[in-house]
Amino acid sequence: MKNVLIVSGHPDLASDSFANKIILADLAEQLPSAVIDDLSALYPDYRIDVPAEQDKLRNADVIVLQFPIFWYSMPALLAKWMEDVFVRGFSHGSQGKALVGKKLVLSFTTGAPESAYDAAFPVDALTGRFVQTAGLTGMIYEGYVYTGGVSYADRTDPARAADMTAVSHTHAKRLAEKIASLM
Ligand SMILES: Cc1cc2nc3c(=O)[nH]c(=O)nc-3n(C[C@H](O)[C@H](O)[C@H](O)COP(=O)(O)O)c2cc1C
Repeated sequence: MKNVLIVSGHPDLASDSFANKIILADLAEQLPSAVIDDLSALYPDYRIDVPAEQDKLRNADVIVLQFPIFWYSMPALLAKWMEDVFVRGFSHGSQGKALVGKKLVLSFTTGAPESAYDAAFPVDALTGRFVQTAGLTGMIYEGYVYTGGVSYADRTDPARAADMTAVSHTHAKRLAEKIASLM
């Protein structure tokens, strides 16, 4: 059995998330042994406990980054976590081997529909920085699970909210299956 760490980069999972909250609640049920690292609950002040986060990563075989796309990138909280935790001597540099061989999975959502990410700017353009980071740190990039069209603006429309609920549950199922295939 492999250890799974799911790092949630949503900046306010408890009070300001629709899709990521459903996805993570489903995963907690479907993968009860996974560690869910809710950065917004732990670090509302963005002051990351670096040794604690590095220990969680050391203990993990499969690392999942779960986040909403903000401005074609990851939320600032997740970027801060990565900047603080992935430091020379831990994740890279001649002595930095802590992440070597661990499997990295991305799991993200966008407000724009999936059709908005086309040939001019494909979904893969959102993942390049993580693929490069995996390469530099020795992690094995295992791909992504993506859902579009979970728009902030549609939360109050009952029909759209029902659609977004359904696709969020489907996303969680796809992600759980992907994680299971790596264990
Ligand atoms: C600050 C901010 C920036 C965003 N930038 C993008 C973006 O670049 N592309 C996009 O498709 N959606 C963007 N969105 C929409 C979010 O991706 C969407 O609300 C989120 O994936 C839904 O997840 P949640 O319900 O868990 O918050 C942005 C939302 C916010 C609040």
